[in-house]
Amino acid sequence: MINDFKKIIYDSTFCYNLVIRNGEGCIIEDIDGNKYIDFTSNIAASPLGYAHPEVMRVLKEYANNGVNKIAGQDFYCEEHFQIAKKLLSISPNGFKAFLVNSGAEAVENSLKLAYKKKGPLPGISFEKSFHGRTLGALSVTSSKDVQKNNFPELPVKRLKFCTNEIDPEIDRIERIIKNNKIAFIITEIIQGEGGIFIASNRFIKEISKIAKNYDVPLIFDEVQTGLGRTGKWWAYQHYGVLPNIITTAKALQVGAVTFENKYDPMERGVLSSTWGGGGRIDMAIGAKMIDVIERDGLLENSCKMGNKIIKQLMEFTGQEIIHDVRGKGLMIGIEVSKQDFRDKIILNLFKKGLLVLPAGEKTIRILPPLIIDEKTISEGLEIFHQVIKKFNR
Ligand SMILES: Cc1ncc(COP(=O)(O)O)c(C=O)c1O
Repeated sequence: MINDFKKIIYDSTFCYNLVIRNGEGCIIEDIDGNKYIDFTSNIAASPLGYAHPEVMRVLKEYANNGVNKIAGQDFYCEEHFQIAKKLLSISPNGFKAFLVNSGAEAVENSLKLAYKKKGPLPGISFEKSFHGRTLGALSVTSSKDVQKNNFPELPVKRLKFCTNEIDPEIDRIERIIKNNKIAFIITEIIQGEGGIFIASNRFIKEISKIAKNYDVPLIFDEVQTGLGRTGKWWAYQHYGVLPNIITTAKALQVGAVTFENKYDPMERGVLSSTWGGGGRIDMAIGAKMIDVIERDGLLENSCKMGNKIIKQLMEFTGQEIIHDVRGKGLMIGIEVSKQDFRDKIILNLFKKGLLVLPAGEKTIRILPPLIIDEKTISEGLEIFHQVIKKFNR
């Protein structure tokens, strides 16, 4: 099937020769009946793993409803209201929501909200960032050349994403904002696609302070980190700061931009999206994600299981091949010595039944479902151990 697939579909960023059939818990099954431990959650889009009873219940509920899709900005529906209400219950006070289809579209709309207020001025984004592949989102992205070559850009100043508390670049940011009119600052808190780089505390605190002092809208892109991935609902909550605008998608099943009331365009037609608020089943499942993460203490589980994985992986550092292990909650990166090794390790893990993801230049990205337990972690890390042993020889 894969060869036929490639004949008619653009071969995007696929990394596995795996045709999915089904799944249960943290296990994915392919069409040949092979089973894999999933440390990817579909890039954080399946926080409850597979065949979760609550999600299955929603699917059954809608099995006899013939209106699964509506044009979300032409008609109202209960699911749209419920998911927005749930999302806002875990967002800063006084925020409003706008639902879209994807992460990139959430970013597009976050930029539009900022431009609407500030005018068509340059924005600020950061090196190695990833905010999506549509042209506006791509303008603020800089993780890989292949994503950008030949495509036109909106005006954006790109500054260093600082992971170090004493990085002198942190002190340059204010000078740039003081001397230029800026429409927005957009950043991830932990860069995902860029290679699992964790922003330093002083860096995030400084951009928040400057954004506030110079009245520049601060956008946190939580498309990958949001909804409990890092052990809190939002990664920015680790830093004790507040943004003006937040983007989310993946775990939410639909895209959303949430924003401080003062960024509401207060005029119909400025933003619209026919499907974002119209995929009734996706919205019902998205609302259920928030419910179950809360009910089952999955923020705590993300912290606890993430710490376990990091602790065990740390035992591999200092060896020839593994240079660094870093992460928060269940968003973890293992940096190896060479890209070629990273790719071979991922392939070998796959052959032995463990799915992980590449990120950045030479990082292995681990994003297990938030429901993961100690037993599955042990099984996954045992496979990791066997494969790494081979490469260290
Ligand atoms: C931080 C971040 N922003 C935006 C996006 C784009 O989301 P989507 O692929 O849903 O368009 C991604 C996707 O990986 C992401 O990680």
